[in-house]
Amino acid sequence: MSNPILILAPMRGITTMYYRKAFVRHFTGLDAEMAPFIPTVSAEKINPKLLKDVLPENNSGLPLIPQLIGNNADDFVNMARALHDLGYEEVNWNLGCPHKPVRKKQRGSGLLPHPDRVDALLETMCAQSPCKISVKVRLGVSDPTELMRLIPVLNRYPLSEVIVHPRTAEQMYDGKADLGAFAMAFQEIKHPVCYNGDINDLAFFQTVDKCFSTLNRFMLGRGLLANPFLCEVIKSGNPKTEKAIARLRAFHDEVLASYEAVIDGDVPLLGKMKEFWSYPSGNLSNGNKLFKKIKKTQRISTYKNIVGEHLDAAEWIA
Ligand SMILES: Cc1cc2nc3c(=O)[nH]c(=O)nc-3n(C[C@H](O)[C@H](O)[C@H](O)COP(=O)(O)O)c2cc1C
Repeated sequence: MSNPILILAPMRGITTMYYRKAFVRHFTGLDAEMAPFIPTVSAEKINPKLLKDVLPENNSGLPLIPQLIGNNADDFVNMARALHDLGYEEVNWNLGCPHKPVRKKQRGSGLLPHPDRVDALLETMCAQSPCKISVKVRLGVSDPTELMRLIPVLNRYPLSEVIVHPRTAEQMYDGKADLGAFAMAFQEIKHPVCYNGDINDLAFFQTVDKCFSTLNRFMLGRGLLANPFLCEVIKSGNPKTEKAIARLRAFHDEVLASYEAVIDGDVPLLGKMKEFWSYPSGNLSNGNKLFKKIKKTQRISTYKNIVGEHLDAAEWIA
């Protein structure tokens, strides 16, 4: 596929509006972003605070697709109306969140084993939502064939896209994305399909790209956070990145400054920045040392010194 569409995966707590804005200022190659899930609530509880992460004034400039999680069609439709009022034309329904408390309430991936319930929900949602609806799915909860039983239901509705992460919920993020299971789903889904899972380097992207010649939509999560140059690398086909450390430093400094402006207290701020480094530190020659040191740090001033010193000495090894 010569012109792949690359989409930032939603990652709750990490790919916030602050992160997304800084990311797009420092790196290229991404075509769109999906925002982390917002739980659906009843109409009277919808307010700007709930929608803050997707308020257009906070957007990065790339097309953004808000994501909703829930199992109440009326709440979904009301939220979709609020998002439509903000200017959104499409909303994604999360049918993939693997966390036990979520799936026990039949939300996220917890709906995958219940095609009849999904059918009833989609009937109302598709009839009444002013936004187009896409869905993000896994293979199932524990049984990887659940998605295959859900596909005939998905095919009956005018969905704009189905994003498939080929793992079960019980796997969480363990093991490998199952390309064989993805192939079976891809063959049966009548809507545009987006592949998501383990695109951590150019070689894996090329493998998926070669296997599925008609696929042109790819969603990148952890791999892109670990190597923010990955979309540029995929689009150029050139694995070498110039001035990687300086660009990573500038991106980091901007993310840190945004969080410093809104998070009170060194400890919560450090929590955010530790999560930030949990991804790209693996691609720094001294990343293990850096990560170990910042995990022990309690003060933001010390943190800044540690990051500065380690980046001065680091090489980018992705
Ligand atoms: C910390 C974290 C938060 C996530 N939050 C969301 C979310 O809000 N909505 C969603 O659909 N998926 C969420 N995901 C799943 C990712 O979007 C993606 O499907 C998954 O990481 C697999 O893609 P990857 O291998 O490219 O990372 C999250 C994953 C992680 C690790």
